[in-house]
Amino acid sequence: MRRMIAGNWKMNMLADGAAQLAGALRRGAAGKGGVGLSCELLVCPPATVLAAVAHALLGSACRVGAQDCHAEASGAHTGDLSAPMLRDAGATHVILGHSERRANHGETDAVVQAKVHAATRAGLVPIVCVGETLAEREGGWAESVVAGQLAGSLPHGFEGLVAYEPVWAIGSGRTPTEADIAAMHAAIRHRVGPSIRILYGGSVKPENAAAILALPEVGGALVGGASLDAQSFLAIAAACPA
Ligand code: 13P
Repeated sequence: MRRMIAGNWKMNMLADGAAQLAGALRRGAAGKGGVGLSCELLVCPPATVLAAVAHALLGSACRVGAQDCHAEASGAHTGDLSAPMLRDAGATHVILGHSERRANHGETDAVVQAKVHAATRAGLVPIVCVGETLAEREGGWAESVVAGQLAGSLPHGFEGLVAYEPVWAIGSGRTPTEADIAAMHAAIRHRVGPSIRILYGGSVKPENAAAILALPEVGGALVGGASLDAQSFLAIAAACPA
């Protein structure tokens, strides 16, 4: 399966910075030997610059996703954005159930599942995030926590991607051991079947990308901080095994 390197810009980037980053990614992903040839590239900017970034990357090897969507297609939901709106702005994918949304907005597995349905109906590919906290890992419950999140968040017949992001590895510079990543990805594979790509996320950097991306069942990476710098993001993409 072709790997995907996805960048989650989170709540970063004003118009100027987004345009510069998109331009650098467009140039970096193009041409002979471009990293787009060995992996799929996706960036998920904040919604305010999504349309501009999608326009800047039109026809390039890098596609554009959103970071969340509402479960309804339209209606009286002040401040929210629906999946059809994000599709209309140029998104092809949407991150759902990121641990920051689960923690900061109280998103439950049932909410995430409703959003998956909404995304799919709108023609967006959902990227559903799961992952345990440090206390859950230290308590020995990491796999059962993730299994519960998968059971609750993924509808029957789910088509999309899963991102395994241990909460304690996000933005911390800490990553699980390679053996722990491989074990969790194998456990997720067992539950989601053979056709779902499983991304790893949490402190992925150019320095650790090659080792992580070579692990069995790791179908790519969901990158936060390092995706805000074109050189780092493209170096991670270049670390994908051919
Ligand atoms: P970092 O790469 O900054 O650890 O963030 C990971 C993440 O949350 C991506 O969704």
